[in-house]
Amino acid sequence: LFTVPPKQLADIYFSTYSDEIDPIWVNPCHDKRHMAIWSPKKTCHTLPQFIVVGPQKTGTTAIYTFLNMHPSIRSNVKRPLIFEELHFFSSDHYYNKGLDWYMSSFTYNRPNQTDIMFFEKTADYFDNYMAPMRVAALIPDVKLITILLDPVKRAYSWYQHARAHKNPASLNFTFYEIITAGEGSPKIQRELRNRCLNPSIYAQHLERWLDYFPPSQLLILDGQEVKEDPPLVMDKLQKFIEVHPYVDYRRLLRYDSKKKFYCQVLQSDFIKCLGPGKGRIYPPMEEAAQKYLKMFFRRHNVALSKLLMKLNQPAPTWLKEDLRESI
Ligand code: A3P
Repeated sequence: LFTVPPKQLADIYFSTYSDEIDPIWVNPCHDKRHMAIWSPKKTCHTLPQFIVVGPQKTGTTAIYTFLNMHPSIRSNVKRPLIFEELHFFSSDHYYNKGLDWYMSSFTYNRPNQTDIMFFEKTADYFDNYMAPMRVAALIPDVKLITILLDPVKRAYSWYQHARAHKNPASLNFTFYEIITAGEGSPKIQRELRNRCLNPSIYAQHLERWLDYFPPSQLLILDGQEVKEDPPLVMDKLQKFIEVHPYVDYRRLLRYDSKKKFYCQVLQSDFIKCLGPGKGRIYPPMEEAAQKYLKMFFRRHNVALSKLLMKLNQPAPTWLKEDLRESI
């Protein structure tokens, strides 16, 4: 029996098992052998208890902001360059930063804060191919929250978001041209089409999460309700994550007629709304685009309705209306 130095051993191992080159982080506290070699300074309490997985443009920032108003709930610390979203499970770059990097994103301000519930919100987890498997490997008992907005509205909101960020395709092509781009269209046009349409194919992505998590760990919120009645949504959310104390968001949120959305009521009656990038004002969608998208999403919405029925989950109002219109 002989061996070689660790680096050489690793090279031999990974050239033999090349499919194992990509790491999969699992919870060190779930395995006695890991615990035995883990630093005593580290704790397993710095992983999130729930994650808002998206998708983008459904009201995820509003939910993130409102959750952080709760005295027993804290999001991850903000990292330089990446702002509020960690992208740990969706980006190889951040995933490869490792478990320490992820866990150190969740820190207590004071040592007696161990009853705090941690969460993170990264809106591109929802439609990311790797995210469900990676989340399940590390935090199998985590609760997941997703928000589903009318896919037509979500697609248009993404296009407007792209325009606000001066995405060249969004500036050079109309929304209709983007969503109807064919395989012969320029790459930038197809890429933007994909970001507008793909995350809105809700049933397909939900099925992937359900390959790894039981339905009892998944809460599906209605994006229209997030806009119109966020206190009610926050009631549902608090019940689902079983947080204490119960907070009545009717006291904390107020509709602002100027912003046309609910905003935070801060001390001394001061109202703070989300920034100008959330709840943008833009022209109504062209009728042709609306018609095209309604047709495009029809079968996906039928699939979503069937899935929700199977899961015994209520269908969002926009979905019921869409299916009624299509009869
Ligand atoms: P628009 O800017 O297109 O209206 P996300 O945070 O996931 O990117 O979602 C952004 C969307 O959240 C906004 O899209 C807006 O419609 C919706 N939204 C829901 N509640 C909101 C609130 N209280 N303030 C601002 N935007 C809100």
